[in-house]
Amino acid sequence: MFIPDYLVNEHFGDRYFDVVNAIDEAQQIHFKNNNLLARIKSVIESNTPFIIGETGFGAGRIVVSLMEYLNKSNLENITIEYNTVELFPLSSERMLNILSGFRNRAEKEIDNLIKAYRAVDIDINGWHQIKIEQPFGCLYLNLWIGEALEMLNSLDKLCDAWFLDGHCPRKNPSMWRPELLMEIGRKTKKGGTCSSYTVSGVVKRALSDAGFDIVKLPGFGGKKEVLQGVKR
Ligand SMILES: C[S@@+](CC[C@H](N)C(=O)[O-])C[C@H]1O[C@@H](n2cnc3c(N)ncnc32)[C@H](O)[C@@H]1O
Repeated sequence: MFIPDYLVNEHFGDRYFDVVNAIDEAQQIHFKNNNLLARIKSVIESNTPFIIGETGFGAGRIVVSLMEYLNKSNLENITIEYNTVELFPLSSERMLNILSGFRNRAEKEIDNLIKAYRAVDIDINGWHQIKIEQPFGCLYLNLWIGEALEMLNSLDKLCDAWFLDGHCPRKNPSMWRPELLMEIGRKTKKGGTCSSYTVSGVVKRALSDAGFDIVKLPGFGGKKEVLQGVKR
């Protein structure tokens, strides 16, 4: 399959996401498999934010997919706190270029993200806070510019759900190293989840050691199965 250059992260020789239906892919692997809507609904009733963690931010496709997913649910007054990390932040122009294939599906969400991201000084490491108002409620995007383990060490809360999206383990083992996944386990609420498209044995073992019960759930596109973990 022909892959345009701008979709490939030159630091890892791997693309940011599958070209076709990458919004549907995120919604299957990270939202539907994790029963996210029902879990978010129960959190609205308790008047607390639903806390998400992500490794790594990349072009923001999962954030856009989440906003689109929640906007088409009939839920309102949702507060999402989305904590994510990126070692090699993209320029807003390149991000827009990468996301532009999804404009017919999520135009407003893409524009909202890009507008907010333009205000971030990507040359400054550490936390950057972005607030994005949406029809469903509000998304607080906390982006750590720097290395994933540093972000985890500085994260002072437990997440309800983690989206693990750090390139394939063969091309980027650093995003799947046991010490990092162990810290993800520590920063997850009991009963919280993690999800990933990779079913690599190394990742499964490290997530299990980090306190997750691992199952394989339906994948998307060419991928028959993906991983889900539930924190013991
Ligand atoms: C597969 S891409 C993420 C795609 C993104 N979730 C999206 O949907 O657009 C993985 C990202 O992790 C970043 N990354 C890789 N290793 C990292 C590390 N050790 N710490 C922080 N970010 C890292 C990469 O630069 C890349 O942008």
